[in-house]
Amino acid sequence: MNKFPYQFQDADRKIVFTRHDLPQPWINYLSNGRLHAFVSQTGGGMCWYHTPMNGRITRYRFYHLPIDSPGFYVYIRMQDGTVWSPTFRPCEKKPDHWEAAHSTGYSEFTAEKDGLQARLTLYMASDCDALIWNVMLTNRRGEKLECDVFAYTELSQLAFTNEVNLGYYLKWNVNCQYNADLNAVLYFYTSWMQVDPNHVPLVFFGATEKPDSFCCDRDKFCGNYRDERNPVEIENGKLSNANLFGGEPCAALHHHVKLPANGEKNIGYFLGVTPGVLLDARAAETKTIETLAFLRAEGEIERQFEKNLAWWDEHLGVYQCKIPDESAMRQINTWNPMQSVVTARYSRSISSSASGIRGVGFRDSAQDMLAQAYRKPEWAKEMLFYLASQQLEDGHAVHTCWPEDGRLPQDITRSDDHIWMVYLAYAIAAETGDTDFLNQAIPFLDKDLKTPVSPTSLWEHLLRGVDFTENHLGAHGLPLILFSDWNDHMGPFGRKGKGETVFVAQQHIYALKQLTELAEQRGDTEATEKFLKLMQKQEAALNAYAWDGDWYLRGLDDEAQPIGSVESEYAKLWVNTQSWMVISGSGKKEKNLRAMDSVKEKLDTGLGLLINAPGLPAEKANNLPAGYSENGGIFCQANCWAIIAEALLGRGDRAWAYYKQLIPHEVIQRIGVDAYKGEAYAYSSTMLGPENEQFGQACVSQVTGTAAWMDVAATQYLLGIRPTLKGLLIDPSIPSTWDYFTVRREYRGCKLKIRVENPSHIQHGVKAMLIGGELHSVKGNALITENYLSYGDLQVTVIMG
Ligand code: GLC
Repeated sequence: MNKFPYQFQDADRKIVFTRHDLPQPWINYLSNGRLHAFVSQTGGGMCWYHTPMNGRITRYRFYHLPIDSPGFYVYIRMQDGTVWSPTFRPCEKKPDHWEAAHSTGYSEFTAEKDGLQARLTLYMASDCDALIWNVMLTNRRGEKLECDVFAYTELSQLAFTNEVNLGYYLKWNVNCQYNADLNAVLYFYTSWMQVDPNHVPLVFFGATEKPDSFCCDRDKFCGNYRDERNPVEIENGKLSNANLFGGEPCAALHHHVKLPANGEKNIGYFLGVTPGVLLDARAAETKTIETLAFLRAEGEIERQFEKNLAWWDEHLGVYQCKIPDESAMRQINTWNPMQSVVTARYSRSISSSASGIRGVGFRDSAQDMLAQAYRKPEWAKEMLFYLASQQLEDGHAVHTCWPEDGRLPQDITRSDDHIWMVYLAYAIAAETGDTDFLNQAIPFLDKDLKTPVSPTSLWEHLLRGVDFTENHLGAHGLPLILFSDWNDHMGPFGRKGKGETVFVAQQHIYALKQLTELAEQRGDTEATEKFLKLMQKQEAALNAYAWDGDWYLRGLDDEAQPIGSVESEYAKLWVNTQSWMVISGSGKKEKNLRAMDSVKEKLDTGLGLLINAPGLPAEKANNLPAGYSENGGIFCQANCWAIIAEALLGRGDRAWAYYKQLIPHEVIQRIGVDAYKGEAYAYSSTMLGPENEQFGQACVSQVTGTAAWMDVAATQYLLGIRPTLKGLLIDPSIPSTWDYFTVRREYRGCKLKIRVENPSHIQHGVKAMLIGGELHSVKGNALITENYLSYGDLQVTVIMG
């Protein structure tokens, strides 16, 4: 038996599950950018339109038992009354064989019972807004077979918090009925308590063929005190043809199927939306008729499947590597960039454990987009423009916003939010070679947090951010913590308004460095000089106050006492200020090496680096228990920065050891699926540290900043193919055992084939580059400048040494 309940099939970019009862739902996201869904290995999941907060099409029960339900369910009722599903849920009768798989934008479930095979493929249509459920039935018996097939999903009242709070009143606004002209269930929701009634969609559930019966009433479908596991209407073999005007809606369709011996039957179902039903019901219905006709056309569901695959091929094709490390290669080529798309789309908002109400975190999305800047710079730019519009005139930014939910942003000033915009702007410019977008006029947000004011260039927005940091320095010249910095739990050290943060000082320097490069490119000498001065000033403050003997402090508290010192009772050493000293290019090399060695000695658990250690008693740590998250936990995102720092220091062996030990599949190999719990292919936000009995357990998977930063760390710092303003830098830090590796990379319209040779088995450093038929000796790293890119597609060989 396979040691793991899953197997990767790398050629197909797939994970195949052979065990259903994982410790938590392992989900896959399906999306066309407008209509979204996630689905688990057992068929549990949820569908939403634009926003999971106010556009919930179907329900998913968070926290409650049975976990991971409801979902996208197909029931097959055999003539003897046995009922089973291609997905492991919801039926109690299990098939003889069962398998599930997640891949790029689709999930596939195959099961067989008594000679009947059923395969359900779920994916989002690209050209219209519908989740396609493609069911293929194959009769493997040597005789004909009849069965009844039912597709079922539970519908939602769109606005999640309204539904939780007031659904018992609002459900009388539910209108769900079968439309005999369209042969589909149509659902709309008329409550005035919608964020924007104009956006309320008409939801439809139809099939490629006319159904034999239907049901729109969840409670009738299930029967009193029953649930999706044993619905009475399926037991009856026919649906009740019930419409629903007020109550708990569902959409269920039934087809009686006759299969000749060894015959096949394909039924496609479409769960889709047409916006604007409350504005113009007729127009929404007409559009729905068109959409259904489109989807029902011969071969269309297959074409939509191909389009989904093509989207992913193109997206993943921007960067593909061949390296002598299977699990790292799989992460870099497929699963990490897939997860980066998840966080780019959903920030920290929605997963099987995140309830979908968090909106867009300013700093979070600015970081998530770093992994799109090199694959989809247009996406990154759009987000950057939006984020800039959420910055106030004094230069600070709101902390959380809800672009599609009509909710006012949350504005409690952090010391770091605005700074992340600079890195995103730089990453876009470095990828595209274009800095014109910095001239784009974007309004600030007024103090009322509603009104756009004083449109000014994006460049000016970035400069206001610099001013804000400069205007909020503490007594030692380091930035004030304010409500908190990147670490949400730093706040208590600075509640009296005096605490200072070393991390933000380092971030400020790094931002000033990137701004200096941008200013030079813009020919703005005044700004260049200003930035250089500010950098020197900030470095001087760091040099004066940050060193603690074996590592750098995390900051100074309100009483000017050191945070993260050998003298501290708890939390003596914090990882971020060690790695960011290196990333920001500040500090003396010997001290930086010493600091990163202290990290290795004191924070490396073998399953990941702790964010700090030892953990504080909960009452001193915002009530976070020791060993969890920001208090002595393995904070995965912070590990990424340590990986980048080690790579920049040229210690490839150590950088890769840190990288590898956090790959979920690697963790599972060491501690097992039931201890780790999270998906084997998606990073989690944190893992519990050794101060917790459940050491190693993943907390909050999928929606985490780890996705983008691991992506950036691996592609740009470990393999070292890094976009810069001047061109594509090749600066690998690799394990000394590697002989060579290759990368295919699309960059500024050019397709590059890069081969890095490592004849003397070193960890870092490049001595020669063969490009355009010429061999050049280089020092330390190689740069592919615009000049070379103009040759067209390029073959580049780089020799380490
Ligand atoms: C969470 C938050 C993020 C914060 C981090 C560290 O991931 O979403 O904004 O920076 O925790 O506290």
